[in-house]
Amino acid sequence: MSEILTASPAGTARSAIVTGGAGGIGRVVSERLAHAGYRVVVADASAAAAEAVAAALPAGHGTHRAVAGDLTTVEANRTAVAVARDLGTLSVLVNGVGISPKDDGRKRPFFDVTPEEWDLVLAVNVKAPLLLVQEAFRHMPSDGSASIVNILSIVSKWGTGGLPSDTFPPFLPSSVAYAASKGALQNLTASLSRELSSFRIRVNGVAPGFVQTQMTGGMPQQEAAQMTGQIPMGRFARPDEIADAIEFLVGPRASYITGASLDVNGGALTC
Ligand SMILES: NC(=O)c1ccc[n+]([C@@H]2O[C@H](COP(=O)([O-])OP(=O)(O)OC[C@H]3O[C@@H](n4cnc5c(N)ncnc54)[C@H](O)[C@@H]3O)[C@@H](O)[C@H]2O)c1
Repeated sequence: MSEILTASPAGTARSAIVTGGAGGIGRVVSERLAHAGYRVVVADASAAAAEAVAAALPAGHGTHRAVAGDLTTVEANRTAVAVARDLGTLSVLVNGVGISPKDDGRKRPFFDVTPEEWDLVLAVNVKAPLLLVQEAFRHMPSDGSASIVNILSIVSKWGTGGLPSDTFPPFLPSSVAYAASKGALQNLTASLSRELSSFRIRVNGVAPGFVQTQMTGGMPQQEAAQMTGQIPMGRFARPDEIADAIEFLVGPRASYITGASLDVNGGALTC
């Protein structure tokens, strides 16, 4: 992890923003970045949870801060960027903010997705990451050390699955709105990697399969077993396995990687 710091100008504190930073994956990513020497802004809708995560981060490299707000608004993203700039040179963005509405853990079929839900999912999962990048990029260093990672999904490429009662695979519990939003975020990742290449800011995606977090919790046991049965490695990922991929992509060993999507799915979807 110390390599990340060698990319920094001597004596300069570096900061990072993790959106959805109080969530199951965001919390672990925030810890990783704090251990790596970044001063971390934990940005999340839940004030209490974001503050708890920020307060628990290792303070060896300086302080960390929580920013609470709705990241579908310009204001919340602007505040996160201002706070991060106070902490140090804003070098890393991890867009982990995301929602995947379900009915008591069950898949919502396409015919039940309301126009309001569609708009909300697209706003949280696609607009919020774009707003953060728009607010942040002018303040990020152009020495090649700045990096952005968007958390995509296995459904970015695959789309969602059929209903649990269908005989054909795959069964995936997310709705069409979630799948469409993650497909759009993957496309946005590709576009931004090109537009930001002249700023020497790398932009990549990490595409998890199924991860043990609140987002996949609450699923009926039978459906969870059905999903696990589709994964060659036979289990869900742990959040730290997603953080491993993100840590790699933000670091100097990924210096020639931009516009990529790194699949972390236990072999559930290949190529
Ligand atoms: N858990 C999985 O299996 C899985 C799989 C693939 C991709 N992902 C993606 O990984 C990311 C993190 O997922 P997770 O499992 O940690 O989910 P999570 O539900 O644990 O965390 C998401 C966080 O986003 C926050 N949030 C939601 N709407 C917000 C808004 N408008 N403004 C600010 N914050 C908001 C929530 O408060 C929550 O803390 C998401 O983008 C998700 O789509 C998760």
